[in-house]
Amino acid sequence: MGERVRTPLVVANWKMHKTRAQAASFVQAVLARLASVRGVEIVICPPFTALETVGRMLLGSPVRLGAQNLHWESQGAFTGEVSAGMLVDLGCAYVIVGHSERRRMFCDTDERVRRKVRAAFDAGLIPILCVGETLEERQAGQTESRVTAQVAEGTLDLSGEEVGRLVIAYEPVWAIGTGYAASGQEACRVNGLIREFLRQRFGSFGEGTRIQYGGSVTSRNAEEFLSQPEVDGALVGGASLDPEEFVGIVQAAAGAVAPQPGDERPNSSYDPA
Ligand code: PGA
Repeated sequence: MGERVRTPLVVANWKMHKTRAQAASFVQAVLARLASVRGVEIVICPPFTALETVGRMLLGSPVRLGAQNLHWESQGAFTGEVSAGMLVDLGCAYVIVGHSERRRMFCDTDERVRRKVRAAFDAGLIPILCVGETLEERQAGQTESRVTAQVAEGTLDLSGEEVGRLVIAYEPVWAIGTGYAASGQEACRVNGLIREFLRQRFGSFGEGTRIQYGGSVTSRNAEEFLSQPEVDGALVGGASLDPEEFVGIVQAAAGAVAPQPGDERPNSSYDPA
């Protein structure tokens, strides 16, 4: 694996999983092994209820804390919502914004996503902006236009310097939680289109943006994605709930897992187009 331009970022998105006790036992199981990995930045995004527990355990380690969502206002009468400042108060460094589950089920429109990205930066958090096409959009040949539109709207209020620190996760909706990952090549192609868009709009700042792939990443297929020049890490859902799986993915990102002779990697790639 050649020299990387950007430090790869591997993010565990636990979604609505794990009590505090379960979260603590996961961190206990993986922390020493994760902390010894070099050349990869690692973030764990537990549900809000486990942020404090996990944050305390990560103190003093290189593993960072992230949240899965935020509200764009700093405070107010917004029952059930959590602000960027509250996340900073808990020790968060990152926040996932515009995940497709939130776009689909919780009205996270492009406009709301834009405001959330702005709010995250204003509070000192790094947003992980999720973009990706649905199966229908892919089949209609709209992958490029949809993904570009989501990136355009999500970065509308940002300075070039902020774009350079932003993380984008390309997550084709049809690959999330389905076991049908995109191919490494296709992830690299779409990430390359996102990079080109950023370059055109933000010049050389766009070189710094880390663009991850997400959608059915496992320890078996991680290397296929993470060895691509345009894939700067992974946003991992289901496989991040299991300590062995998550450590395996992080190790793949570090290039620590060299393929062994006879080590057959089942082809999990799937392109529905
Ligand atoms: P998955 O989820 O890894 O379970 O497909 C990815 C995500 O939703 O971020």
